[in-house]
Amino acid sequence: MKKRVGVIPGDGIGPEVIGEAVKVIEAASQAFGVELELTRFDWGAEKYLREGITLPDGAVEMFQKEYDAILAGAFGDPRVKDNKHAHDILLGLRFRLDLYVNLRPVKLLDEKLTPLKGRTMTDIDFVIFRENTEGAYVNVGGVFKTGTKDEIAVQEEIHTRHGVERIIRAAFDYAREHKRKRVTLVDKANVMRYGHDLWQRTFFELAQGYPEIEVSHQFVDSMALLMVLNPDQWDVVVTNNMFGDILSDLGAALTGGLGLAPSGNIHPGRVSLFEPVHGTAPALAGKNVANPIGATLTAAMMLEYLGYRQAALAIEAAVVSAIHAGAVTQDLRGSLSTTEAGDAIAVRVRDR
Ligand code: IPM
Ligand code: MN
Repeated sequence: MKKRVGVIPGDGIGPEVIGEAVKVIEAASQAFGVELELTRFDWGAEKYLREGITLPDGAVEMFQKEYDAILAGAFGDPRVKDNKHAHDILLGLRFRLDLYVNLRPVKLLDEKLTPLKGRTMTDIDFVIFRENTEGAYVNVGGVFKTGTKDEIAVQEEIHTRHGVERIIRAAFDYAREHKRKRVTLVDKANVMRYGHDLWQRTFFELAQGYPEIEVSHQFVDSMALLMVLNPDQWDVVVTNNMFGDILSDLGAALTGGLGLAPSGNIHPGRVSLFEPVHGTAPALAGKNVANPIGATLTAAMMLEYLGYRQAALAIEAAVVSAIHAGAVTQDLRGSLSTTEAGDAIAVRVRDR
């Protein structure tokens, strides 16, 4: 049966890189009999500035009822200072579709891409499970005596047993399914004695149910150090919303930069949203220079989620082959435009 995918290209380089990702999806459709029906939505800064609409009423219900997945570009525009539309669309969909897993692979595809001396593909290959619906992102709090010398701002973190348990379980289940030997919890429980201690207790309790999997723990500061010094020891890393946000950018740096990093916002079994980790890169927008690989690998993650594993693997192999051949954009020291780099991948998917 045909799968329905909503495509939201968004702002900045979003439309350009999503254009290439769609091109690659189409190549995969021909080669692997992938049956997708893509529907485009023009939500983003332009529409917000023109019509005052961010995430339209009924959008959440529409995706829940009629769609299998969403492929999004990036949101953010220098003209929208408070980033309201990005907040409503991206965080709105994450929260309101309850997409509690933010899956962010950190996988080196070619030795020449890492800034770490002497590291190879087997050294840098792990996945981050970022909690995606609570933590520091709930925006609970307030201000008091605003604008005075006595101003007070309170910004709370929320951690629920339910929320913590389901992301930790997802990380262990993934490790079991993908034969990864170790799951590492990252927190700051030495300082955040309530919220992060809940993570600790839940983690070690759930670990009992996965006796074949080795468990380990790092405080986030130490984790940042060890991701750089000793990246080969990680398999599956599970952490809260904010730490996952930060560590996934560090992970992207280890594998060649933000231009390559994919991500999935997932609620297993429900409509889920896939977006590259990079932002809108306003300085690059409209110039046909942005790297389409992050968006393309994101499309591959989406295809895998929709059950098209062969197509997903073929796209990843095509990306690796294009990188080996130097058929890449300037950020990776190639000379291709966005569209040419997309073509280089699409051709390899077709001729696999
Ligand atoms: C990300 C981004 C978002 C986040 C921003 C754009 C709200 O940095 O997807 O990592 O903080 O989650
Ligand atoms: Mn981020």
